[in-house]
Amino acid sequence: MLINRPRRLRKNPIVREMIAETMLSKNMFMYPHFIVSGKNTVQPIDAMPGISRFSIDELRKEVEGNLKLGINKILLFGVGERKSEDGSSAWHSDSLIPEAVSTLKSAFGNDLYIATDICLCAYTTHGHCGIIKNDYVDNDSSVLALARMALSHAEAGADMVAPSDMMDGRVGGIRSALDEKGFVNTALMSYAIKFASSYYGPFREAADSAPGKGDRKSYQMDFRNGREALQEGITDEHEGADVLMVKPALAYLDVIKNLRENTLLPVACYNVSAEYSMVKMAAQAGVVNEQGIVMENMFAFARAGAQIIITYHAKDILKNAWL
Ligand code: PBG
Ligand code: ZN
Repeated sequence: MLINRPRRLRKNPIVREMIAETMLSKNMFMYPHFIVSGKNTVQPIDAMPGISRFSIDELRKEVEGNLKLGINKILLFGVGERKSEDGSSAWHSDSLIPEAVSTLKSAFGNDLYIATDICLCAYTTHGHCGIIKNDYVDNDSSVLALARMALSHAEAGADMVAPSDMMDGRVGGIRSALDEKGFVNTALMSYAIKFASSYYGPFREAADSAPGKGDRKSYQMDFRNGREALQEGITDEHEGADVLMVKPALAYLDVIKNLRENTLLPVACYNVSAEYSMVKMAAQAGVVNEQGIVMENMFAFARAGAQIIITYHAKDILKNAWL
């Protein structure tokens, strides 16, 4: 006699639905956008099939369509701004992101939740995420610059700022800069656990943000380290982060799960550019079933403990009703 027959509860769709442990909802998705200057501009990104850079007027139309699909949370990246040694156009109030935020906010108000990426790499001539002193990315002056950048986005009306630079103490630095100016309700999602990863390749093409020389290993994390990952998460929680993010996502499900079990804050994951492009290109080559692979990945993120999923697949998922 077989005592355990787990197949009993797989017999038909009704019983399978009844015992399903993991749910996904459109409310979990945040959709990234790349913004360029100019007008009437939509530039497809070759390395990321289905994703384009938009000028602000085009982005407004894109967002309007996506809102109808139920995508009401976006993450903004500025591309092609004037680059300088210290990345100062990152915090100028007349730069792309503040302009995009105020345009979208006046069009959609509180129907749209806007998060902005806070980092210097798209704004520095050297392409590093902070300010360089003596050939080293200097921590504390970078934190001051990032805090100015975050403040300029909050002033434009961003609902959430999301620092992706991995400097030490930037969550606390940004939080106090915001609070000092009265932006106590601007939320802060930390890219708390961000690994130095080859999975960012297509993004760096999209955002023109690759480091000119060297790599990001003196600030982004070593992917061999899981305990240190948790320490990064807990540090950012203590500094006042509202949401903790793990990035990339697919190769780091253990890190997502470990963080989920050790914090009471909401956990986000970033399903990054190469994770997206690998799926899209394999699907285009007819090697995998796109819907199948995408949804399996999304459920894996949720099962691991992510309640916010930042993904370039969000539009395909909702447009094609894959949920
Ligand atoms: C900027 C930043 C990067 C990503 C998000 N913010 C690239 C990097 O750190 O080199 C990657 C996102 C993606 O690959 O989709 N620091
Ligand atoms: Zn960066």
